[in-house]
Amino acid sequence: MRIIIAKSSSEAVEIVSDMIFNKLQSEQDLVLGLATGKTMEPVYKEVVEKVKASHLDLRSHRFFMLDEYIGLSTSHPSSFKSYINRHLIAPLKLVSDQFQFPTVGTEHLSKAGEVYEEKIKQAGGIYLQLLGIGSNGHIGFNEPGSSSDSRTRIVKLTEETRKANQSQFESGSVPEEALSMGVASIMDAKELLMLATGASKADAIKYLFNHHDDESCPATFLKAHPRFTLVLDPEAAGKISLNI
Ligand code: GLP
Repeated sequence: MRIIIAKSSSEAVEIVSDMIFNKLQSEQDLVLGLATGKTMEPVYKEVVEKVKASHLDLRSHRFFMLDEYIGLSTSHPSSFKSYINRHLIAPLKLVSDQFQFPTVGTEHLSKAGEVYEEKIKQAGGIYLQLLGIGSNGHIGFNEPGSSSDSRTRIVKLTEETRKANQSQFESGSVPEEALSMGVASIMDAKELLMLATGASKADAIKYLFNHHDDESCPATFLKAHPRFTLVLDPEAAGKISLNI
């Protein structure tokens, strides 16, 4: 695990957006796994600015969403499909068929996980998976108790996660279930890039730093990945001590 502790939240965002932009610029036919949440909003804003300034052509790249709520219409403003459309697809005028979303329509929901895993396989696997972390250490919607061999599947959200995500819902409540790439799905990516900012993530980062392979904090599984980079701002790193 490579840890980068930035001097500020904005520097942490800059580091991550630079890494993503450099991959988009240097690779052809990149398959990029995208995360959502408040943490990623400034990252996508920076990536959009860099792509626009460089007139970079993204048409050869493909994108996979990490997770999606079950029970929202895909046009619902709080769905992750709407999120990525707002923050990336529309600003960059990308073509929606470059994006793959966990299919959460009610028909064939039981097969949706297998279908999504097959789509990732057909794309040649994910090259770079962008990740945030929940305050309870979840990755995607792999909540505490998720196994290391979990694959894309229907997951039940904890009340803590639903409460934390309520701010993204102007009306109505956060759904109780989601379709999420599993821990093993995430670990199959060639590179992992996690960004955590803010004091609300300090406990999860401290636990991640001091434990490994612990289902109570699924993020700890990522430490076994050979190319896992963790970027923190001072607040999210506030409870770890680096003995260097
Ligand atoms: C959601 C998403 C995760 C994200 C997490 C943190 O649960 N499924 O992918 O990392 O929340 O979100 P935020 O950045 O808003 O704290």
